[in-house]
Amino acid sequence: MKLLVTGVAGFIGSNFVYHMLEGDPALVLVGLDKLTYAGNYDNLSRLTPDQRDRFSFVRGDINDRALLAQLFGQHDFEGVVNFAAESHVDRAIHDAQVFLTTNVLGTHALLEAAARAWRSGAGWLAGRRYVQVSTDEVYGSLGQQGFFSERSPLAPRNPYAASKAGADHIVQAFHHTFGLPACITRCSNNYGPYQFPEKLIPLMIRNALRHEPLPVYGDGRQIRDWLYVRDHCRAIELVLRRGRPGEVYNIGGHNELENLELVRRLLQVLGQRTGDPAIGEGLIRHVADRPGHDRRYAIDAGKIQAELGWEPLTRFEGGLTQTIDWYLSNREWTERVISGEYLAFYEQNYAARG
Ligand code: NAD
Ligand code: DAU
Repeated sequence: MKLLVTGVAGFIGSNFVYHMLEGDPALVLVGLDKLTYAGNYDNLSRLTPDQRDRFSFVRGDINDRALLAQLFGQHDFEGVVNFAAESHVDRAIHDAQVFLTTNVLGTHALLEAAARAWRSGAGWLAGRRYVQVSTDEVYGSLGQQGFFSERSPLAPRNPYAASKAGADHIVQAFHHTFGLPACITRCSNNYGPYQFPEKLIPLMIRNALRHEPLPVYGDGRQIRDWLYVRDHCRAIELVLRRGRPGEVYNIGGHNELENLELVRRLLQVLGQRTGDPAIGEGLIRHVADRPGHDRRYAIDAGKIQAELGWEPLTRFEGGLTQTIDWYLSNREWTERVISGEYLAFYEQNYAARG
């Protein structure tokens, strides 16, 4: 199988590259990434020589139609997985422009390129699949009870979520209007290695290690449903290989936690692992709430479980400890991605060679 995967230098995309190349020795993967502030080529530096032989990296924008046409002309892709996105809610609240450009228009450009390459007479080349990696945020916010199912109406409440919902609509339009064999996955909050340290878990780890305040938005009682990133990657692979075209698959951990509780557990593990007495709840600071802050997300993942046999394998306690250990062993990674040092390294050592 030959895949085009976008957003490979980001958090979930890089984990997906490892997951796919480790799991399928026949797989060949082309990774496309613009290397924004959130994308780090170094995230892919742990590929083995064999995996590296089956992987090629292209720095570029999913909005670059000429580049997409060139890639689809060079390679007979059987699948496309679109991770490329602006992904941070707080940044979208500050300025949504690039979210619309990448998440909505970029998805459209990719769909058009796949559609052009895969059309065959009145139908489509056999065995092709486009997977759009979406989010539970497109459903909006829940009250105390209930879960998002694939039938829940789309009701995004922040500009990031709205841009992802816009992309989902375009993917569904390409399926319904033209028959493009496309699926959508909508997952809850991921955690694990290589997550950019602006997101809750890596941000809290970094600040605690530096004895800096831990900013908890509002009362900290908002609920997220946390899933270990490799469990998400397994789910996406199943949808890519066996998902029914036109279908949406929700993915979640059945692991709902209030933010404050999550931060407390994180501090406990971090305190134990480091033996640092300054790491504790005294670092927590309640700060102004995120505007439009969604109160609760929770996923009903019954459909993907019933149809594709997926369920999460990583229990939260183990996954959190593993994640904390990764950030402890990779403290210089955190500082380098924040400073942009890895991007400068890429530009000096790789970009010039094409
Ligand atoms: P991320 O911000 O870590 O990575 C995004 C990657 O996309 C980066 O490598 C970036 O350089 C690249 N990119 C951005 N704009 C691009 C463009 N125009 N062209 C090419 N590449 C571009 O994001 P993530 O957390 O890994 O999320 C990946 C996908 O999964 C996103 O679509 C996100 O909406 C979705 N998602 C994330 C979560 C989560 O908890 N992180 C949960 C559900 C869904
Ligand atoms: O639900 C899936 C979504 O999860 C993905 O689509 C997004 O790409 C991803 O970023 C994530 O969105 P969240 O907004 O839920 O993640 P974030 O890590 O930014 O915040 C998690 C919760 O923690 C949220 O309720 C806001 C809160 N928070 C976050 C930060 C960064 C804080 O209280 N303090 C903080 O400093």
